[in-house]
Amino acid sequence: MKGKVHVFDHPLIQHKLGMMRDKNTGTKDFRELLDEISMLMVFETTRNLPTEEVNIETPLGWTKTRMLSGMPIGIIPILRAGLGMVDGIQRLIPNAKVGHIGLYRDPDTLQPVEYYCKLPADSEHRYLYVLDPMLATGGSASAAISFIKQRNCTNISLVSIIAAPEGIERVQKEHPDVNIYVAACDEKLNEHGYIVPGLGDAGDRLFGTK
Ligand code: PRP
Ligand code: URA
Repeated sequence: MKGKVHVFDHPLIQHKLGMMRDKNTGTKDFRELLDEISMLMVFETTRNLPTEEVNIETPLGWTKTRMLSGMPIGIIPILRAGLGMVDGIQRLIPNAKVGHIGLYRDPDTLQPVEYYCKLPADSEHRYLYVLDPMLATGGSASAAISFIKQRNCTNISLVSIIAAPEGIERVQKEHPDVNIYVAACDEKLNEHGYIVPGLGDAGDRLFGTK
């Protein structure tokens, strides 16, 4: 069975994504927009987290309310661009532990090259969200998910901002158990593996390296 793909069509998210795509948007605004979109996406990505009924004493008396139960959350940005999604998510889930996976895409082969991996020690007991704004060929995301699965983790979702059909197809094929959350599914990849129309190189725009 294929993992589900959720596309966020909320007007605020689409508006901010439009600003991110604009080639005239500078590093500061790009960083803030990515942060804000990531925070807005958390509502939907965490929609099915389990809750339990608890008794709470308000200043006026006792009431039953629902609070999160079950496993805690881990977020795993893929370096570099995934780092831009961490703060927005942690603002709403401050107890989330953060793992890091360093991967870059070889510009010639488009194959992911790993250079770093440090995950929370108890990752297999957490709901894990892999973060990367761009899902292009899907090679990086799929490799990252494979590393995480080697640590016996099973509850994994992928959160991206823009996806190409090729990337979605690859992750669904190689990791059918993983749900994919995106703000937009674009038309295609170009001959260099860039998403069209996309937003260009997310890492460079986020960190101002070009
Ligand atoms: C970008 C992006 C993804 C990857 C997507 O990273 O942030 O990690 O490319 O491409 P794929 O789906 O074809 O694997 P990049 O390799 O440019 O590294 P960087 O974030 O360090 O710039
Ligand atoms: N990585 C990016 O940053 N952008 C793309 O369009 C594809 C891969």
